[in-house]
Amino acid sequence: GEKNYFVGVADTDFAGDGERKMAQEAFGLVRGQLGRMYLPLIDGEYVQTQDVVESLNPSRFEEVVGKVGLASVEQAEMAMQAAKNAFPGWRKTPVSQRAGILRKAAELMELRRAELSAWIVLEVGKPVREADGEVSEAIDFCLYYAAEMERLNEGVSYDVAGEMNKYIYQGRGIAVVISPWNFPLAIAAGMTVAALVTGNCTILKPAEASSVIAAKFAEILVEAGIPKGVFQYLPGKGSAVGAYMVNHVNTHIIAFTGSQEVGCRIYADAATLKMGQKHMKRVIAEMGGKNGIIIDESADLDQAVVGAVQSSFGYSGQKCSACSRVIVVEAVYEEFVQRFVEATKSLNIGEAELPSTQVGPVIDDNARSRILEYIEKGKAESTLALEMSIPENGYYVPPTIFKDVPADGIIAQQEIFGPVVAVIKAKNFQKALEIANGTNFALTGGLYSRTPSHIEQAQADFEVGNLYINRTITGAIVARQPFGGFKLSGVGSKAGGPDYLLQFLEPKTVTENI
Ligand code: SER
Repeated sequence: GEKNYFVGVADTDFAGDGERKMAQEAFGLVRGQLGRMYLPLIDGEYVQTQDVVESLNPSRFEEVVGKVGLASVEQAEMAMQAAKNAFPGWRKTPVSQRAGILRKAAELMELRRAELSAWIVLEVGKPVREADGEVSEAIDFCLYYAAEMERLNEGVSYDVAGEMNKYIYQGRGIAVVISPWNFPLAIAAGMTVAALVTGNCTILKPAEASSVIAAKFAEILVEAGIPKGVFQYLPGKGSAVGAYMVNHVNTHIIAFTGSQEVGCRIYADAATLKMGQKHMKRVIAEMGGKNGIIIDESADLDQAVVGAVQSSFGYSGQKCSACSRVIVVEAVYEEFVQRFVEATKSLNIGEAELPSTQVGPVIDDNARSRILEYIEKGKAESTLALEMSIPENGYYVPPTIFKDVPADGIIAQQEIFGPVVAVIKAKNFQKALEIANGTNFALTGGLYSRTPSHIEQAQADFEVGNLYINRTITGAIVARQPFGGFKLSGVGSKAGGPDYLLQFLEPKTVTENI
């Protein structure tokens, strides 16, 4: 196969004293800036809004991270107009210049790494190391998509005698990016810079719960030289502003990451031709998962236990890649459950900011209530194996393990998006694979095994976009594990992979008779 040329940036090595001190100083700096106001950026200007919401620290909800001005539908219309006006200039801007802006943004993020990571920790409750990894991912998206666009821009030539044939790529128009709160910097940045570098004017509507970090990213793009109108930052209500832009006659591309329910709604809305619309919209939607790890009788249980704990409880289970089902063959079932419970018990739960924290809070009060309801449903349909105790004063949910869960049970089928795991017993590996495939989703999956025929069969038959063998199932790295799923986990090709930018482009064939 083709060899990859891209190498990503390194995460912070927190073993160093200097690095730890920098992280602490960053928290000091960010704490001094809490509670400031962030406004929508439309046509290069920050505009006042009628509605303002507070973004709270999920680890201590009396702490206001920032105030966010929510754009109105009229302001969304202004943003669409600005994008439309800027498009003729942006599509003709040389690729080298567009890529240069992404590289500059990457450089600025590297310079502000500790600070950005502190904002992530405080606004969405992600533990420090994972927030640092997320900054790396955002930087990698900028650098990789810059290089990818330069590669695509070379085009392909199919010349024959007497006839010149060129195959080139052009931007499509206006891209609406609707980003999630769980990777508030990396995914917002990834979708946005992909849309921009391919020559589209872009409007970023971040999840409400992570609008402050998105505002930091907007600042960085402006500082990196993004021309006015080419990019707008538009915090607002999804049901009003998001829906308005998805349905807008001038929208060409919608890049969305979020829930299955919203993704399906967007797909349907985008498919309906609006009065005066002269093109079909393209939807790229990354939705949910119900990711399983299979553990067979030949698995190295030391490795499997650690991998299942990290995959299930990292960022409190709020990654779309997180493990929420562990499917264990009968022969090792009892031993695995016991060791999985013991290992989970040793997790430190607390404020995301503390270096010792492994599991922080969940994003907000709604999420907490929803997850707690699922825990009650789990108790009704299976056996509680562990429910940990939690701190007060933040949106904490106890890491919870259920065993003997029926494969078709509610907690074995529905995406919970929290620190709740269903352990399911399977007669043998074949049955385990059937159970693993028995959901509506196909995002990530894992297998712990030392049996070559099982590994081979999983490669062929495990219905997931990202299959991980004998390792954790989260933490995909740009241009190393291109990321994305199928079935009801989403439409479109993988982020951080060689096909991603193609979705934002219109190819054109030019033939000249010579
Ligand atoms: N890309 C993330 C991961 O692999 C999930 O969104 O964990």
